[in-house]
Amino acid sequence: MAAQPVNRKIRTAVIPAAGLGTRFLPATKAIPKEMIPIVDVPMIQHIVEEAVGAGIENVVLVTARHKEAIENHFDFNYELEDSLDKKQKQDLADVSRKIGKLCNLISIRQKTPMGLGHAVLCAAPIVGDEPFAILLGDDLIDSKIPCTRQLIDIYEAHGGSVVGVMEVAQSEVSKYGMVGGKMLNPRLMHVDRLVEKPKPADAPSLFAIPGRYVLSPSIFQCLRETKPGKGGEIQLTDALQLLAEREKLFAYVYEGVRYDTGDRLGFIEATLAFALRRPELAEGVRAIMKKHLSEKPQGERK
Ligand code: G1P
Repeated sequence: MAAQPVNRKIRTAVIPAAGLGTRFLPATKAIPKEMIPIVDVPMIQHIVEEAVGAGIENVVLVTARHKEAIENHFDFNYELEDSLDKKQKQDLADVSRKIGKLCNLISIRQKTPMGLGHAVLCAAPIVGDEPFAILLGDDLIDSKIPCTRQLIDIYEAHGGSVVGVMEVAQSEVSKYGMVGGKMLNPRLMHVDRLVEKPKPADAPSLFAIPGRYVLSPSIFQCLRETKPGKGGEIQLTDALQLLAEREKLFAYVYEGVRYDTGDRLGFIEATLAFALRRPELAEGVRAIMKKHLSEKPQGERK
């Protein structure tokens, strides 16, 4: 099995952001779902901050029509920042400028929606022949060491591609790409089997991929060879099966808490958890929750 060159620093992350966000309609009718905030920070900013915290310098955003707001968010906003400067609101001006300085953002369009694997392949001309990270925007992972950094550390130590995994209940396996293989230690698996959203009986283990990957550039050739799979789409998980047959692929049980912000309840949970961690909001949020939990519902609004 081919050893991977590990002396190439992982500088680039691909963030697929081309989806229509239909699970969040009507909010996503006119704004990209990635711009919906958790408290006051757009989801995509949380993801980019994880990548930057892991040492990533270049973020390749795979977008679609009507996603310009994301690009604007990571640019400077001269009128806003200048006006805040003039009003002596330096803190707020800095909040805005800091986002513009986070990383080099390069965007490329996925012109036809052909699945996650196809979206990743759209980034190939920008990523080139370097290992890179992938972060999916619907998964927010809260951890001391950014999840992507944990995966890069494994990549560097073991010389192979790595997917982050978490253990899920059997009833949940049909929501995820699932991995199977040989456990090398309680956190690390040498992967030899992957199945996209299997039926419970077909899952190779209970380890699921919640949207974090550090991959060798060979994945691009695997993607080119991958035929449409589940849902008629080119699946990244299917291309990873090919990669696992050609090179080393590991799964690492990352340390951290994952929120499924692509789901309404997961989104509400993330909002509450992140708000409770903000010193200026925590007490107020607790009081509001107490009030609503003890009171009978007051009137109904549709
Ligand atoms: C995608 C991937 C799946 C992965 C999941 C993580 O599915 O295809 O392998 O486990 O993201 O969120 P999606 O949720 O976009 O349908």
